[in-house]
Amino acid sequence: MSITSFNQGQPPSARPGSTRPKITTLTIQEKKQRREPITCLTAYDYSTARLVDEAGIDMILVGDSLAQVVLGYDSTMPVTLEEMLHHTRAVRRAVKSAMVIADMPFGTYHNDVAEGVRNAVRFVKESGAEAVKLEGGEKRVEMIKHVLDAEVPVMGHIGLTPQSIHKMGGYKVQGKDLSGIERLMKDAVALDRAGVFSIVLEGVPREVAAMISREVSAPTIGIGAGPDCDGQVLVFHDIVNLTFAEPAKFVRRYGDAAALITTAVQQFKADVESGAYPSDKESYHLPKETKVELDAILRRKQLKAYSR
Ligand code: KIV
Repeated sequence: MSITSFNQGQPPSARPGSTRPKITTLTIQEKKQRREPITCLTAYDYSTARLVDEAGIDMILVGDSLAQVVLGYDSTMPVTLEEMLHHTRAVRRAVKSAMVIADMPFGTYHNDVAEGVRNAVRFVKESGAEAVKLEGGEKRVEMIKHVLDAEVPVMGHIGLTPQSIHKMGGYKVQGKDLSGIERLMKDAVALDRAGVFSIVLEGVPREVAAMISREVSAPTIGIGAGPDCDGQVLVFHDIVNLTFAEPAKFVRRYGDAAALITTAVQQFKADVESGAYPSDKESYHLPKETKVELDAILRRKQLKAYSR
């Protein structure tokens, strides 16, 4: 193929069946330049990812929050690389247009650079992720540069980083004093210079998130970081009430899937127990000729039984 046949400047087209163009790292960066809010939600399976994509969300994060909201662990720490790959593949199969980002789980990029790069590449090669997210600021810069050198886009994540809760002493808002603010600003600038395509700011005072968002060129995606970020991300299960817990202050519930599912399940149970389900309309029937033949056989059998 000659270089002139490349579709220069055009984003790759979405997969067949999509009604909107493919979202890429460039789309996300351009949205910041145009000051258009960026939307991101987590998803971990085919059906949810499909609905989120079809609703027009820009980015789908296969977050390691999977550990808590899908697998029932009490932190993100136990989820494995293989589990994350498995769920990212399911999401990938569903999504036509949104950008799919996979969270690198705890312990998969904390040792040597070669191992981190190998694991990041696995997400792209084996699960179809278009970028990876990893937690940490300045101290992750070397790792991030190597992952980028391997052609894998990186989303940074600073502030309240759930993989560091033991070190942080719990889920605590970060950057509440001057030294904390300085730390966060340094981390954000370091990630920006390293070349991440976006930065998640989690559990950060609104004022600090606003300062960082103005300072860095990478789009900031807030969660519990106020309205002045370039975009917002929430955990899907939080917005539809599927977490069985009091929501955090920053969560807004947009629906009650727990109530919907409970009512459906209770109604199914009641209908089976009362005989109302399944009805004749919900049953398959024999073709007419087979029914006539079968009835004839059954009648002959009955006659034989009487004549004995
Ligand atoms: O794992 C996750 O869900 C996250 C968030 C930023 C929502 O990292």
